[in-house]
Amino acid sequence: MKEISQTPLVILNFKTYLESTGENALELSKICEKVAKETGVKIVVAPQHPDIYRISKEVDIAVLSQHVDAIDFGGHTGSILTECVKEAGAVGTLINHSERRMKLFEIDEIIKKTSTLGMGNIVCTNNIETSVAAATLNPDFVAVEPPELIGSGIPVSKAEPEIVEGTVELIHNINQKVKVLCGAGISTGDDLKAAIDLGTEGVLLASGIILADDPEKALLDLVSKI
Ligand code: G3P
Repeated sequence: MKEISQTPLVILNFKTYLESTGENALELSKICEKVAKETGVKIVVAPQHPDIYRISKEVDIAVLSQHVDAIDFGGHTGSILTECVKEAGAVGTLINHSERRMKLFEIDEIIKKTSTLGMGNIVCTNNIETSVAAATLNPDFVAVEPPELIGSGIPVSKAEPEIVEGTVELIHNINQKVKVLCGAGISTGDDLKAAIDLGTEGVLLASGIILADDPEKALLDLVSKI
């Protein structure tokens, strides 16, 4: 259960919502585990760093880090070390999320380091051009997320299908090994199905599930059409 190669892949990014912080993060992870077991769909969580250890110990699904810094062991007060999140139980990390942008050389360093450590990596991008650039660095996944749709409730797979399709096509022209995800505004089974129909291997999402009145029901609906 604790790896991220199986697709379709659903990554729930906990961000810093109250509903996905601390005890709530554990509860939500247990819901994800339950729905993953019931439906057989691969659901992975990306909680805040201080919640990684507890969730990875108590829940049998893959846990990702939301971010790591491009640093090695040493004097880097306040930074997030890849080796430390690995030891805490993270099997991979998001890189360059729209809400935590990084420089190109840092993205490259983290892809290489996570691969060396046997961890997965997902590089987030904002459009077709940056997705293609990211794919040349050989990550496991590129997740394209138009920033203006993040948290909007308007699904990228329906509002801007050309960005998703274009990303899939151009990435596969240059690097067949890179899997493409999309995110922003995804919340329903129709949104996820539309994303898969556009050629992606899954989605990265947050508010549609985390802020739902009934996250379990929302998750069950999300995976109901694949
Ligand atoms: O990382 C997922 C994300 O940025 C999309 O957020 O709330 O639109 O699903 P949301």
